[in-house]
Amino acid sequence: ITPITDINVAGKRLVVRADLNVPLADGKVADATRITRFAQGMKPLLAQGARLVILSHLGRPKGELNPAFCLHQIESTLADALGCPVTFGETCAGPVAENAAAALKDGEVLLCENVRFERGEEMNDPGLARKFAALGDIYVNDAFSCAHRAHASTAAIAELLPATAGPLMIEEMEALTAALEASNRPSVAIVGGAKVSSKIAVLKHLVQKLDAVIVGGGMANTFLFAKGAPMGKSLHEADQVETVKEILLLAKAAKCEIFLPEDVVVAKEFREGARKKIVVWNECPEDAMILDAGSAALRNFQGVLAGAQTILWNGPLGAFEIPPFDHSTMALAETAAELTRAGLCVSVAGGGDTVAALNTAGVADDFTYVSTAGGAFLEWLEGRVLPGIAALDRADQAA
Ligand code: 3PG
Repeated sequence: ITPITDINVAGKRLVVRADLNVPLADGKVADATRITRFAQGMKPLLAQGARLVILSHLGRPKGELNPAFCLHQIESTLADALGCPVTFGETCAGPVAENAAAALKDGEVLLCENVRFERGEEMNDPGLARKFAALGDIYVNDAFSCAHRAHASTAAIAELLPATAGPLMIEEMEALTAALEASNRPSVAIVGGAKVSSKIAVLKHLVQKLDAVIVGGGMANTFLFAKGAPMGKSLHEADQVETVKEILLLAKAAKCEIFLPEDVVVAKEFREGARKKIVVWNECPEDAMILDAGSAALRNFQGVLAGAQTILWNGPLGAFEIPPFDHSTMALAETAAELTRAGLCVSVAGGGDTVAALNTAGVADDFTYVSTAGGAFLEWLEGRVLPGIAALDRADQAA
């Protein structure tokens, strides 16, 4: 893999795939970590006179134009992080985007509209990749956190332009490798969050490699549902029950302990300060929803972390963005940070929401390493070849 930093980029138009998929609240960036980490790596390239054409996705608009996922919402945060103006392109493919890219001067930046507004993106369509490639001279994949997706802007495009890895991509690969080499057993993963179906398959592999897995968030609800718990209005994915059963069998065979919340915080409304109560795992009322792990569950999880030498974390334990449902996530983050500060374990966390939660708890700097990647981080841990990285490898071999 060729790092872009090995190339003279003065006057070159770089088509950069970034991951600017950040949490938003009321149209404002709620956590800018992905943007600031990306910008840090781009600044030296801009200073050398590179012209940046930035491609990214935001959310999952499924090939439809949807204002809720418009990248315009992050433009000013990106400009602040880069320390220079950013032009917003209303589209990412076709003549309008090509003209905007062609108008760039040295050190200027074009942020294109969400690549997932294009149908071909998630299909890894070569036709769309050709349109992306027409925007510049060199392709730079700086989105480690999207490397698990074989999409037009992460895979097919690498065959069409000289393909390189961006600074954040390189940093993530090196730091994760180093952190995992430094880690010992017992190893524990905390897997939570709302993206159940896209992460659950990874658990099949993780339970065969780790000593314990703590399950939280929508993922935990899905496990509790599979064990027969009523869900009320809780986020869960009923069609994943068979996968859950398979994971439980695999975990048993591999002697990996799975920890689910034995009690849960429920509320009738999902709003700040809503009245909450704690009930045992199988007593969520019909008109309520599970929004956090309960206090007994938290104590149990804290005990599991205390016995670990390696802590891997992806996905919050509850609806951490709205107090009081942030409690378990914040408290467990503090426990992991304390154990790391005391030199008792190596801790690696990843994922947009997880990083936002660690920032809110004020403990992100205490972790051994914080990755900007969520799903890609889990697949990397699993030892899978990530399509985005494989595409850069192939391009290098072909060159
Ligand atoms: C992420 O948040 O993990 C990346 O931006 C990838 O998003 P996706 O899961 O929607 O592909």
